[in-house]
Order: sequence, then structure tokens, then C-alpha cells
Amino acid sequence: MCGIVGYIGKRNVVPVLLYGLQRLEYRGYDSAGIAVLEKEENRIIVEKQVGKIRDLQEYLWNKKIEGHVGIAHTRWATHGPPTIENAHPHISRKGTIAIVHNGIIENYLELRKELIEKGYKFRSETDTEVIAHLLEEEYEENLLKTVFKVIEKLEGAYALGIISTYEPDKIIGVRKGSPLIVGVGKGENLIASDIPAVLEYTKDIIALDDEEISVLKKDSVEIYGFNGAKKEKKTFHVTWDVSIAEKGGFKHFMQKEIHEQPRTVGDTITGFSSQDIENLFSSIKDINRIVIIACGTSFHAGLVGKFWIEKFARVPVEVDYASEFRYRDYILNRKTLVLGISQSGETADTRFAMLDATKKSGAKTLALVNVVGSSLSRESDFVLYTYCGPEIGVAATKTFTAQLVVLYLFSLKLAQYRGLLSEEDFKQKYKELLHIPSVIEEVLKKDDEIKNISYRYMNAKDFLFLGRGINYPIALEGALKLKEISYIHAEGYPAGEMKHGPIALIDENMPVVVVSPKDSLYEKTLSNIQEVKARKGKVISVATDGDKSMKEISDEVIYIPEVKDELYPIVTIVPLQILAYHIATLLGKDVDQPRNLAKTVTVE
Ligand code: F6R
Repeated sequence: MCGIVGYIGKRNVVPVLLYGLQRLEYRGYDSAGIAVLEKEENRIIVEKQVGKIRDLQEYLWNKKIEGHVGIAHTRWATHGPPTIENAHPHISRKGTIAIVHNGIIENYLELRKELIEKGYKFRSETDTEVIAHLLEEEYEENLLKTVFKVIEKLEGAYALGIISTYEPDKIIGVRKGSPLIVGVGKGENLIASDIPAVLEYTKDIIALDDEEISVLKKDSVEIYGFNGAKKEKKTFHVTWDVSIAEKGGFKHFMQKEIHEQPRTVGDTITGFSSQDIENLFSSIKDINRIVIIACGTSFHAGLVGKFWIEKFARVPVEVDYASEFRYRDYILNRKTLVLGISQSGETADTRFAMLDATKKSGAKTLALVNVVGSSLSRESDFVLYTYCGPEIGVAATKTFTAQLVVLYLFSLKLAQYRGLLSEEDFKQKYKELLHIPSVIEEVLKKDDEIKNISYRYMNAKDFLFLGRGINYPIALEGALKLKEISYIHAEGYPAGEMKHGPIALIDENMPVVVVSPKDSLYEKTLSNIQEVKARKGKVISVATDGDKSMKEISDEVIYIPEVKDELYPIVTIVPLQILAYHIATLLGKDVDQPRNLAKTVTVE
């Protein structure tokens, strides 16, 4: 996730762009840059800095850049670490076209190869730079026509801002799969990834739909479909303030991030294959053991990953807390893969455990992280990424479901490389996975229903979360979400273990959340629910649509759509995130910054 902004009008563009970037900083903040069309000499000036917008602002302080047309970008690295070269805007070979991009170009490696064969030299590792060169390569007297030609070659999701010395009186904005709005002012117009970036200058907005292109001049805005047809679009007037707008209309970042999951899961599915997986899988196909190390939510993702890897790739997997792993006499050898999972890639326990493992054993290391260029990604032999953009809420939500997606695809690919899964079966499973974003969309519609349930149980002192098999880690994760943001004591337990101790806790005051989709262990979970009911416990179940028996024995049921057994964890966690969110906010807790916690734990 990145943020883009563009301005054309009467003001000096530099402060306008910097203001816009600041409002978009929540979308990414590892590097930033601006491109300004300087009228006198008709040239594009590009300035970039690694770090926050503040750093770019300080850097530009003494530079006298003047212009009335420009584009800018705040980056959340996806392809290539945060460096000046990889920061946007990217400029074409002759310096005639500059672009900013938010999204992923899936076929960039192919396009890059073709351009290199034509003599183009690349300055960055980004997928974006290909677009700048393609635009120059294809340009023939009309920038808009060139844009139409180039987008035909691009696969993936993108929002683009484009300026050119060939036609210095305009900015072109393109939207396909990544957000882009147009701010319509008087004698000035703007494009941006999100509304807050333009609110200082106008409150009249056109929301571009997918596959639309906007052409902004000082005094006009034209919108075209990807088919070339001109469109009439209505503006709407915004009445919110900037702080609400940054959260996309949600009350908290955590709520926004829960609701972003259809997109982040989708981006992570498509982003997986744009990574260097050939090299990874051919190097690890002969390993005979995987050790997963992680903390907190990432540890729970690892527990789900174990099920998939053992089921499909038939490699034994151990999952360990990083803080425990490091201080025991573990056994690793060159045939072991150590997989470190970390949203931030900076968690000290995980980093040091991975470094220790490499030093002592020579085992291969693979990092699964969300933050490109993070320490863990640099210190490991291989890296896989989730494509979530920054996660601001302290409680991990969207990065958890994205970690699951990567672990699922990792297990399938490993199975393929080990000759245990055919191409056809892989494709079938991939197709089913592609359906998950719309399933999550359905679950998100239950927000109000789950809020009503939350009212009824918000005053409980303790909660128990139960699950079986692949959904047992989801019970653990549901309990972690609730305790960390609501401060209610909660425990996750394997449903079958309950009778060996925790059942003693159950009475009429104990809500028991049971993750009980209709999978192969369903009947067994049903019996465990009977055991809770026999002791007067209150059951809140997460069940599959149409499961009437669950309604009869539960006090509350949250229904989710049916999916393939193995995919349930990516769906069943969503209602539990929403439940934790509502209970905590109803209790008046600060869900984005719960007490005693930090988003990234860089101490042991
Ligand atoms: C829980 C949570 C933490 C993190 C843990 C590891 O919501 O956010 O438990 O999962 O601190 O962090 P990363 O994944 O950054 O290593």
C-alpha cells in the first residue's frame, strides 16, 4: 500500500504535494518523493528521500523548486527495499515522463526483460519503473492515447499519476484495483489515493471506479473508461474532517484494517507469484524438516501453517515461540528450513532466534514478513511477503489472514516441487483460494449482528475459546485478540482437551466461543459443545451457513459461508476479530493502542 497525490493549478505545487503526502502517510512511510514540472525550462525535477514525509520536507526546505503541476508518492515497499532509487516518482529514460504508482504490476519481470532487450537501463528494483519506460517507448504525439496503449500491457492492480513534458498542461490518473479519487477545485484540480490528501483545497470529490482514467487540466476534469469512451461522473461533497477521513470513515484503524481484509487477502494471493519463488522452491525442495519460529499472532499463523505443510508437502513441521526456541538445545541441520514469521520483521525474539539458528547450524532461513526491507527480511536467505500495507492498529488482524494465505500457497508450491501435487490440483486449489476475499466480504456484513452479541457478553470476566484441528490455532488467536484489547481474561483451548481440566471453569457466567465450521471434525466439536451446555456455559459458535443443529445447541451463532475444510481458518478468524473489537470499544478501551503494548517489540 502506498499513497499518491497530484496537483495542477495556480499554487506552487510543492507545499500542496507535501500536505497531501502527510495526510496519506498512514498508507506507507518508508520513503517519499515529488516530481514537479518546471515551466521555464519545461523539465521534470524529481526529489526523493528515504524515511518519513518529515525527512522529505526538511530536505526540500532550502531547495527553490517552483511549478504548478506535480505528482508525489509515499511508499510502502513491495518490490525492492526502501532506498532512494526505489522511491517514487520514477522517470523515463529521457526524463520526459514521470509516474507514481500504488499497487502491484504482476507481469513486470516480463516487461522489464523486453525493455532491457530494447536497451533500457533500470535504475530501481521496482515494478513501477517499467511503466515509465513503456510510456516513453510508446509515446506518439498524444499522452492519453499512449496511456491507453500501455495499460493494455499491464497485469495487476494499480493507481497511477502521470505527468509529462510533452503535454505539461495535464495530469493523468489511472485506476485499476487500487484507489484513486479526483478533487475538483476552482482553477485547480487534484488526484489522490484518498480524500484527506485534498481536503485542504476542495471538498468536491469524484471517486474513480475501476478501469477509469482521469485527465486533469487546471480548469477541467475529463473521465474515460478503459475502452476509450468518455464518461460523465458526479462529484460529491465531503463533510467529514481529516481525522475521520484518514481512517476511511471507520472509528479506529483496527476496524478499518479488519474491513480491509478482502483486499489484503486478494493482494497477497496475487502478490505471491510475483515474488522470486522459483529460486526459493528449487533451493528447499529437498529439506526434510521445517521449524517455524514466531511470536504472538504470527506464532498462531505458524500453527495453522503446520497443518497445511504436513498435509500437502508431507514435511514434518515444528512450531516454536521464538523466545523459547533460542534458549533450548534445539536440533537443526542443513536439511532443516527455519521459517521466521513476523509482520514487522523487527521483533527481537524472532530475529535473534533466526540469527542464532543460522550461526549454529547452517540451516536455510526463510522470512515471512509484511515490511519490505525489515531486518528479518535482510538477515534471511529467502523472503516471502504479505501485501497488506502498514498495519497501524496494535492488534494484528489483516496481516494474520495474509500470513495464512502465504503459508497456504507455500505449502501447495512445496508439495508441487516435491512431486506431491499436480499442476491441475494446484490450479483448482488456487481457484478456491481466490474466492476467499468475497467470502470475507460476506462475513464483514455481520458486523452489526456481532456487535449485538458483544453487548450481551461484554461484562463477562473470562472467556474460553475452543477449536479443533486446523481451527484450534484460531481459538488461540481469538482469545489473544480479546485479551489484548479488552483486558478480559481469555484462554484458547483445543476443544477435545477441555475435559482434561478446563471444564472445571465452566458455569453459567462463562461465555465459550466455539469455532465449529462443518469440517471433518465437526461431529466431535458438537459433542464438546454438549459438554459445555450440560454445565450451563454460554456458547457462542462460529458455524457454517445452514447448520441448524448449531443453532439449537448454541446461545448465539455467527454463520459464515461454506468453504473447503482446509480454508476455514482464513475465514473463521474474522468474526472473532470483530467480536474482540466490539467488546473492547463498548468497554471504552483504546483498541488502536492498548495499554502496555507496542506494535513492534524490539526488545527481548
Ligand atoms: C497481537 C500482536 C502481537 C504480534 C507479535 C509479533 O495482535 O500483534 O502478538 O503478533 O508481537 O509481532 P511480529 O509479527 O511483528 O513479529
